[in-house]
Amino acid sequence: MTSAFTSLPEPRYPDPSDAPALRWGVIAPGGIAADFTDALHKHTRQRVVAAGSRTAERAAAFAAAHGVDRSYGSYEQLVSDADVDVVYVASPHTQHTEHALLAIAAGKHVLIEKPMAVTAADAQLIADAARAAGVFAMEAMWTRYLPQTDIVRQLLDDGAFGDVRVVTADFGGSARFDPASRLFDPALAGGALLDLGVYVVSWASFALGSPASVIATGSLAPTGVDEQVALILSSATGAQALLSTGLRAGTPSLATISGSTGRVETDSPFWSASGVRFYDGDGRLAAHWVDPYGRPHREGMSYEAAALARYVTEGLTDSPLQPLDEAIATLATLDEARRQVGVADLGVGSSEGR
Ligand SMILES: NC(=O)c1ccc[n+]([C@@H]2O[C@H](COP(=O)([O-])OP(=O)(O)OC[C@H]3O[C@@H](n4cnc5c(N)ncnc54)[C@H](OP(=O)(O)O)[C@@H]3O)[C@@H](O)[C@H]2O)c1
Repeated sequence: MTSAFTSLPEPRYPDPSDAPALRWGVIAPGGIAADFTDALHKHTRQRVVAAGSRTAERAAAFAAAHGVDRSYGSYEQLVSDADVDVVYVASPHTQHTEHALLAIAAGKHVLIEKPMAVTAADAQLIADAARAAGVFAMEAMWTRYLPQTDIVRQLLDDGAFGDVRVVTADFGGSARFDPASRLFDPALAGGALLDLGVYVVSWASFALGSPASVIATGSLAPTGVDEQVALILSSATGAQALLSTGLRAGTPSLATISGSTGRVETDSPFWSASGVRFYDGDGRLAAHWVDPYGRPHREGMSYEAAALARYVTEGLTDSPLQPLDEAIATLATLDEARRQVGVADLGVGSSEGR
């Protein structure tokens, strides 16, 4: 066995319940907002104290179902609540920029669901506004905050894989084709790349940084959104990320990083708490770390919320583990991939398209 992997580093923040409590407000009480709120209330001291919807009835129903104190029939009312510290933007992709800017203008810190915006240009608008207002802003790329990701991060920082040459990741979902669903609706910036591809491009960025070149090939759904895409991202040194995403077939959701002195392979799925296997430079399994913490599936979103609470309490305005500039660069890669695959209206829902 290679000595580098016989003793793995400990994850640095395994307990999201020890983060200082913030008061959260939710914009758009849909599917992910429900899971996020439940995860916070189950595993952290964070409290969702207010929910805002386009209709008062939906806001009230969400509040009653998820233990939220106050509900509002507009997003404007939600961001005006003086007893909200941070706003979680959980609307469809096309609404993220408008709603993040609304929260920032009200002086709130903001956590924005992935993708942070529909285009890199819009993500830049959010970053600029947050910096000007002095508030914290972050894309909700929750994989970055999982314990297993922190082990891999520490090994990468220590150079334990040697010269990283090949990175892989796949994330495909088996959705039924439904032109009315946000996944397939071009007016809501549907498509695999923005919904699931953001995870695999983010994994590549985590291991290799921003690519020097992007090659994407794929097919479109009958509605014109990207349905199946393969990407090759190359770094200036010739390292490559081979990535796959799609909407119509569930794929294993595995991710790897391979270098001259070892490699890591995640268990499935790489994007939520699972496990990681470490192999030495001779290809021998050196360690298999299985997540012991009991925050499966979307309960793992509790880690990103805890990280945000720590950062805000420390006075930071950007995440050291996933800075705004990296989220913007990831969207630039997705912009280019969507262009190459032939998505017709790249700017739908963006500041350009409005
Ligand atoms: N982190 C993750 O694992 C994860 C998982 C799933 C989704 N997401 C992200 O979360 C976001 C929301 O996804 P979701 O699956 O929760 O969607 P969803 O269930 O459809 O909920 C979205 C909510 O947005 C509000 N909304 C505002 N403008 C809208 C519009 N023009 N059309 C439709 N709804 C609108 C609606 O609430 P009101 O009308 O009541 O205000 C709706 O309930 C997406 O950006 C997605 O990428 C993240």
